[in-house]
Amino acid sequence: MPTTESPRGKAIAEAAARVIPGGVNSSTRYIGAPYAFVDAAGAYVTDADGRRYLDYHAAFGAILLGHNAPAVNDAVRAAIGGVDLIGLGVTEPEVALAEKVVEVIPSAESMVATMSGSEAVAQAIRLARAVTGRDLIVKFQGGFHGWSDSVARNVISTPERAYGLDPLSAGILPHALDATLIAEFNDLPSVEALFDQYPERIAAVIMEPIPHNVGALVPTQDFVDGLRKLTEQQGALYILDEVITGFRHSLGGYQQVMGVTPDLTTFGKGMGNGFPTGGVAGRRDLMEHFNGQTGDVLMAGTFNGNPIGCAAALATIGYLQEHPDFYERTHRLGARMRAGLNGIIAELDIEATVAGFGGVFSLYFAKPPVLGYRDLLRNDNTAYVAFHRGMTERGFLMLPLALKRNHVSGAHTEEDIDRTLEAARDVLRDLR
Ligand SMILES: Cc1ncc(COP(=O)(O)O)c(C=O)c1O
Repeated sequence: MPTTESPRGKAIAEAAARVIPGGVNSSTRYIGAPYAFVDAAGAYVTDADGRRYLDYHAAFGAILLGHNAPAVNDAVRAAIGGVDLIGLGVTEPEVALAEKVVEVIPSAESMVATMSGSEAVAQAIRLARAVTGRDLIVKFQGGFHGWSDSVARNVISTPERAYGLDPLSAGILPHALDATLIAEFNDLPSVEALFDQYPERIAAVIMEPIPHNVGALVPTQDFVDGLRKLTEQQGALYILDEVITGFRHSLGGYQQVMGVTPDLTTFGKGMGNGFPTGGVAGRRDLMEHFNGQTGDVLMAGTFNGNPIGCAAALATIGYLQEHPDFYERTHRLGARMRAGLNGIIAELDIEATVAGFGGVFSLYFAKPPVLGYRDLLRNDNTAYVAFHRGMTERGFLMLPLALKRNHVSGAHTEEDIDRTLEAARDVLRDLR
């Protein structure tokens, strides 16, 4: 059945649109067909009309080990019926989770649990302002750090709006937007210029170690080391937003890959393999500001440290600790995908390139090199949309936005990669 024929999916989508604005619960989820999903297992998801898709979208990266990973689901089932949400004192799973994060993340001396990545980022930014007494934040064009006011600007900007004022939403206080400065990724002088322009005003530089929200801009070691040095010299905090890279690229996050020690790190997504969880971790002296008895920064959240999120995160991180081959495997399959796609691009002589790291791959319809957002302004978004549609029709789910990334999870096989490459060859040949 072609994807356009989706009687059951369409009916569910129509029912959704009557009671949910736009018919989806997060604004970038609507892609037309397939409209609705009913099942997921390993690397596959099934739509409401019974069509199976090989899934590289992975719930925007929240699925790390594969859908319905038994190790995680079993732990969540076991948690139900034990101590539930008390909301006073602490529970043992919360202590175990913080101990686990402190054990595996090189820069983590203590940790607080949140429900999502956006909450973790909002808390980290407030903490940075509190400890430095400064008002401004630096983020990079193309970086996404969730929906909170301080960071909801300048992600996939058009050439006209890039680097200028490009809020993701109406309703954000102009002051909040103005307090966030925009720099260029992999361009240290662009950050130095902001510190020169606003002396002793910048509280923190926040970055995705690899800005996966615009594909995969891989940082140079000099850029990362330079930022660490610069923020230290300038008395600003260096916040790594590892909501996507954390646990995915290595057990200790991308900070471990780069050998850099941020002041604060934020987590979410894959940490709980699809269950809601997240957190902020970092230097103890900074984190102590969250101490409700002696500190000065509010840390609040009814569901923070809830038993399901804790059980899921403990099981996911525990699985990764016990199965280090996860990294060997996802990195090998990711490399196979990137090399295969680059081979097809060369063979068909298309203006495109593939970027990525570990199990993540991104197809850019632009010439290499792709180091900063400026290079992405040349991306042919229309070509990507056509590629995405062609792959969906052949049963491969990828991220719907032109500059996002795709994920090889712990459940993908070599055969899955090879089948994907065959389909990609067909689609790219048609596109050409
Ligand atoms: C790097 C990064 N930080 C923060 C967030 C926000 O996380 P959440 O959607 O869990 O609030 C996202 C979500 O896409 C993200 O990619």
